Amino acid sequence: MSGGLFVVFEGGDGVGKSTQCRLLAEWARRRGVPARLTFEPGDTAAGRMIRRIVLDPATGDLDPRAEALLYAADKAHHLYEVVRPALERGEMVICDRYVDSMLAYQGAGRVLDLAEVAEIARWATAGLVPDLTVLLDLEPERAVGTIADPDRVEGAGAEFHRRARALFLELAAQAPERYLVLPARRPADWIAEQVQEQVVALLSEPTLSEPTGRIAP
Ligand SMILES: Nc1ncnc2c1ncn2[C@@H]1O[C@H](COP(=O)(O)OP(=O)(O)O)[C@@H](O)[C@H]1O
Ligand SMILES: [Mg+2]
Repeated sequence: MSGGLFVVFEGGDGVGKSTQCRLLAEWARRRGVPARLTFEPGDTAAGRMIRRIVLDPATGDLDPRAEALLYAADKAHHLYEVVRPALERGEMVICDRYVDSMLAYQGAGRVLDLAEVAEIARWATAGLVPDLTVLLDLEPERAVGTIADPDRVEGAGAEFHRRARALFLELAAQAPERYLVLPARRPADWIAEQVQEQVVALLSEPTLSEPTGRIAP
């Protein structure tokens, strides 16, 4: 393989993203393709500190704009330290969550304007878009279905997950050539095969002989 390939897995919690990231990395390595498995947020030293700020109860009530900027900072640094260098070495970068998660969670709520969050994410990533985003789609009723008493799921919580799912699907529909939307409830091996087929097709495309992922127009 002469150029890097940037593959991202997106979707809600518990849809199988980490499982598929691992399966794709194992498959790539078996084929002799160097693969860098990574995730957002928090897969750098600075990113772990940022993640701690966001998650630590000691942070207290975090302003939504401040939170969005912290996630954006994690992304910028992650690309600088991990993603771009690996792509430039010609590796396949497999990333568990990326910009779409930021849009779905920071932008699909009612607090922040989605277009503004998208602009911040675009700036933070200098427009680096994945060659392929695999969206593992699942009804939010299922994703939160492990909660014993569904009536106790806060209305706003369920509505938030519905909006996030709708946004993931909308982003995929806006650029179908860069997305693979798969039903997350199918067996993991079946999902992995669909992803592998798509990756094989991308690896044989001559445009991917360029050393880095594609830059958005
Ligand atoms: N296709 C699948 N079908 C059924 N269970 C799955 C599938 N993929 C993953 N799992 C299981 O579901 C759980 C969540 O998977 P995980 O990969 O951690 O999801 P995520 O990273 O999206 O939160 C794990 O216990 C995993 O083994
Ligand atoms: Mg995971």
